[in-house]
Amino acid sequence: MDYASKLRSWPRWPEYGPEELVAVTKVLKSNQLFAASEVQLFEQQFADFQESEFAVGIGNATQGLHLALAALDIGKDDEVIVTPCSWISSVSCILMQNAVPVFSDIESDTLGLDPKLIEAKITPRTKAIMLVHILGYPARADEVAEIARNHSLILVEDASHAPGATLNGRKMGTFGEVGVFSLQQRKAISTGDGGVISTNNKEVAEKIRRLRSFGHDELSYNYRMSEFSAVLGQIGLSRLEAQNLERERCANYLASLLKDEDWARVRLESRTNATSVYYAIGLELNISDSKAIELLEQMITSGIPARKMFSPLHLHPHFRSKPAPARGLPWRNTTYDGFMKERNYEDLSFPIAQEYCNGRILELYVHPPTSFEHLEAFAEFLRITYHNLVEDDADRRVNW
Ligand SMILES: Cc1ncc(COP(=O)(O)O)c(C=O)c1O
Repeated sequence: MDYASKLRSWPRWPEYGPEELVAVTKVLKSNQLFAASEVQLFEQQFADFQESEFAVGIGNATQGLHLALAALDIGKDDEVIVTPCSWISSVSCILMQNAVPVFSDIESDTLGLDPKLIEAKITPRTKAIMLVHILGYPARADEVAEIARNHSLILVEDASHAPGATLNGRKMGTFGEVGVFSLQQRKAISTGDGGVISTNNKEVAEKIRRLRSFGHDELSYNYRMSEFSAVLGQIGLSRLEAQNLERERCANYLASLLKDEDWARVRLESRTNATSVYYAIGLELNISDSKAIELLEQMITSGIPARKMFSPLHLHPHFRSKPAPARGLPWRNTTYDGFMKERNYEDLSFPIAQEYCNGRILELYVHPPTSFEHLEAFAEFLRITYHNLVEDDADRRVNW
């Protein structure tokens, strides 16, 4: 088979099958579709998996992050230190609480917050750190947790990409006060829309449960998980560890196929005390941003599931003060006197995040049953497309 037709057979993700069909039919027949016993069962299974005391199912990770901050009493005039390199939900949850995101740059190894830069961002207003494990690569959660402890800050982990990833033998999502996971369709546990929070703090777990579902006398939300999502979550969780190993095998094999190229490499986890789950493979390219985007377009047209990594969040429209939302801009509150008081987000600079978010890394999905033949076809595609696209050194990056 030629490489182009092999690429067209790249597996879709997810591929729901008979087991899922039986499970959702059972829910339908039960006539109980909103959160009940299936959600409770999933929560128990997820808490066991995390080796955490509690797990709480929610409608999606954006809700989970918002609930976590609300339950932890992070609000007006508080600051949360966060990465500029993530999906907007890691930051919009802070704005939803009328708190102020204070961005700090990432490090190139893990693509997570650089622990060395965090302390310079701490002010008397700082209440929490939001740590994101991008593409399934564990951020330096142990070091960040220590900084949080030393400064009496709360650590929240957005582990949306990283169920099953570990650092020092501990699951990501257990280093902070809470860990939040996305079960959105594209994710490793794929339920359409869904999410789950893990925590060891009983009081926080109980508060999250109250705020999740109308909360009686506390202002709260309806952020419940559905029974459909819960049964799909149970199935996804039962397969997660084997599927994570498959993704890791694919990452290693693709790295071996590209090992002699000086313009493309797979970002493998190099620490011996960490395991990445390769929710997406970080494919790093030594070509200009514009050529990387052209390459990405050709990948997508050829049937390869890939995306550009996030755009730097401090430049997101949420931070341009002209179209002021009705609820105001937390960093312009008259009572706010912290790090962003006299600053504009668009004037900030995060060299590492800007370098990596703008095209240097593409996300490549190798969910099961992606085969070694698919990866061989992909390597062939990459070589041919690269030589067609890149004419001279002007198309390369300066600092590879
Ligand atoms: C890092 C990260 N956090 C949070 C979310 C939000 O997840 P959800 O779609 O479940 O709200 C996403 C979504 O892709 C994400 O990538």
